[in-house]
Amino acid sequence: MLSPMPTDWHVQLKPNKVGPGEGWKNIMVKVGIFGATGYAGFELVDLLQKHDEVEVVFCTSESSAGMTLDEIYAQGPHWPLIKSADAPLDQVDAVFLCLPHAASAATAVRARAAGCRVIDLSADFRLKSLETYEEWYKVEHPRPEWLQEAVYGLTEHARDEVKEADIVACPGCYPTSVLIPLNPIVKAGGVKAGAHIIADSKTGVSGGGRKAKLLYHHVEVQDNMTPYGIGQSHRHWAEMSEKLAGWSNGNGAPELIFSPHLMAIPRGILSTIYVPLKDGWDAEKVRALYEDAYGDEPFVKVLPEGKLATVAHAVRSNRVAIGMTVAAGMLILTCAIDNLTKGSSGQAVQNFNLMYGFEETTALL
Ligand SMILES: NC(=O)c1ccc[n+]([C@@H]2O[C@H](COP(=O)([O-])OP(=O)(O)OC[C@H]3O[C@@H](n4cnc5c(N)ncnc54)[C@H](OP(=O)(O)O)[C@@H]3O)[C@@H](O)[C@H]2O)c1
Repeated sequence: MLSPMPTDWHVQLKPNKVGPGEGWKNIMVKVGIFGATGYAGFELVDLLQKHDEVEVVFCTSESSAGMTLDEIYAQGPHWPLIKSADAPLDQVDAVFLCLPHAASAATAVRARAAGCRVIDLSADFRLKSLETYEEWYKVEHPRPEWLQEAVYGLTEHARDEVKEADIVACPGCYPTSVLIPLNPIVKAGGVKAGAHIIADSKTGVSGGGRKAKLLYHHVEVQDNMTPYGIGQSHRHWAEMSEKLAGWSNGNGAPELIFSPHLMAIPRGILSTIYVPLKDGWDAEKVRALYEDAYGDEPFVKVLPEGKLATVAHAVRSNRVAIGMTVAAGMLILTCAIDNLTKGSSGQAVQNFNLMYGFEETTALL
């Protein structure tokens, strides 16, 4: 636990517009943040401070309840932390759940009982199949029927449903970096029948959360690059496979091979995805498809011919950068996102904006 910081110095850097007990303005939607001390939760705190139409009523932490956020993160606001059991759910319209799976679902049950809309960053509502959820997450789901009701918030492909949803399941970080680039070609039926798609992905260490695990220690990570959960053994494989199957319109979903790696940067994901193309699909046709799909998107940028996505295209932003190369009948997509923005909290705010009728880009540009 960090020792307490002086609590007034940061206010001079960034006035608290939406902090509990401070002089906020233009209040429209009251929200609570569960798990505000985690990497995703703190990113959300940072984003919501720029949102003039949000009032953050409470932030939770189990291990640091009684402290303030600026005691955990030096650059954080002086907001009190409370235990999730003490969260005044009757005082908020919506909650963001930045919690581990299982804890999220249990909190969602309480939040829905209090009439709150739920924006969940965990995996608890991402899958439609209960069997798949229980197989991969090894816990019983407290409300299996909500798996059907929840909307998978890959925003660019679910706007209408997100607007109406009471529970939005924000996609995983790797799935965001794989599914956004794959959606147009899979939906258009451009993948060779019976072919495998290979997604080779690399993430920065914040992808593993704030709790120390050996794999994420500086000594293990620095000057190293580590594959883990490769093939079809990572939980995100199940999430991606379910969505790809849904987009294939009964045409036989392409089988996915997914190989995640840990790289020595704090944040950012780069996925390189190999898609065998059906006859008749060439570079020109593929480019036209992607420019049509994403040309008007505020956050998705299809890079010009010859340009490949790099982590720097997207890091510390809600952007998705997509590069395209066609070689030997194979579409090679490169996609960069920031795992803590478009891969979690940024996409959560994007969905929140749609749910409450704000400009989708509010607090994100
Ligand atoms: N990190 C990413 O890039 C990323 C991307 C997409 C999705 N996600 C998902 O977002 C969620 C949060 O991830 P994270 O990386 O921010 O994790 P994290 O850094 O480990 O933070 C977890 C947060 O949840 C709180 N918490 C832990 N166990 C809890 C429990 N049983 N009950 C209530 N609160 C509890 C922690 O509070 P204290 O430790 O302060 O007690 C902390 O605030 C996870 O479901 C993760 O899979 C993360």
